[in-house]
Amino acid sequence: MSFSILGTGKAVPQFVLTNDDLSKMVDTNDEWIRTRTGIRERRICKEETITDLCVSAAEEAMKDANITANELDLIICATFRGEFITPSEASLIQKRIGASCPAFDINGACSGFIFALDVALGYFARKTVKKVLVIGADNLSNVTDWNDRSTCVLFGDGSGAVVLGEGEGLKSIHLTLKGDSDVLYVPRGKNTSPMYEHESENPVVHMQGSEVYKFAVIAMIKGIRKALKDAGLTEEDVAWVVPHQANIRIINAAIEKLNIHPEKFFCNLDKYGNTSAGSVPIALDEANKAGKFKSGDIIVLCAFGAGLTTGSAVIRWE
Ligand code: UT7
Repeated sequence: MSFSILGTGKAVPQFVLTNDDLSKMVDTNDEWIRTRTGIRERRICKEETITDLCVSAAEEAMKDANITANELDLIICATFRGEFITPSEASLIQKRIGASCPAFDINGACSGFIFALDVALGYFARKTVKKVLVIGADNLSNVTDWNDRSTCVLFGDGSGAVVLGEGEGLKSIHLTLKGDSDVLYVPRGKNTSPMYEHESENPVVHMQGSEVYKFAVIAMIKGIRKALKDAGLTEEDVAWVVPHQANIRIINAAIEKLNIHPEKFFCNLDKYGNTSAGSVPIALDEANKAGKFKSGDIIVLCAFGAGLTTGSAVIRWE
């Protein structure tokens, strides 16, 4: 037993931070950011908490799936930056939406949403669930060094959600981990123990951009090919690719090597930047609500992130 996607939702903060706004904060400009990344603006939490966004995305997905919170058997939230260290972000969402099922977080960084789909698959395979809410969300503005122009222009906040039900929509899913904590990481911050002997680093994104870039392009190409092969499909069968929205140049570099038409890649990173675990489900929801998907369409999801993680999945839209 696998699952199908019954509904999607998303929520982003109200506040829009444009490239011009950023050029007043650090030594950058709209032209550099647009040409190097494709990003024009991003949404940043001011009044909203990340939980507010997760709850809105979850409620929208449940409405789209035509189900109520008490029908949920499980909630999984993919995030590395929920509101609290503990309890989990998923438990905050469970309480706010009025569900009573178990709920937990997983951390697969920017690939987290696809990691969470894979975890959900195990529950469906064991036939212990009928409806699962999967959310991807991160609050990157809270771990951004706003004085570092090489990273602060890239990120935004947001949340996307799907409701999964029993079905055969998921055709394959593939996760990888390189085991790297040097090229992209966010330290936890100062240890409160007076006995602890290690130095603490600033709890913001540390990134070697070009190393991540090279990894990302290969990850996308390999991930898409592997997931399609496992599903018994080819690049010609693909109706849509919903990639991690990190940098349009990464997506375009992957497109050059793949036999999939560029117009089949759904991109919205110009509006939101990189929202980490929120990125793929936000894009999935926007494409869905824009009426892009037809029943029977083969959709490929792919992502990469800290860890270094990758995730790819093939879904038949139903
Ligand atoms: O979810 C995964 C998260 N991370 C990623 O996906 C990031 C992957 N990496 C990237 O997207 C790209 O490597 C970046 C967008 C981060 C950087 O693009 P790049 O083409 O690799 O630029 P670069 O780091 O090689 O920097 C080129 C120049 C440098 O100046 P010099 O040394 O050539 O004089 C930088 O100092 O651009 C400079 N620079 C900037 N200039 C204006 C770096 N950031 C900025 C900026 N505005 N914001």
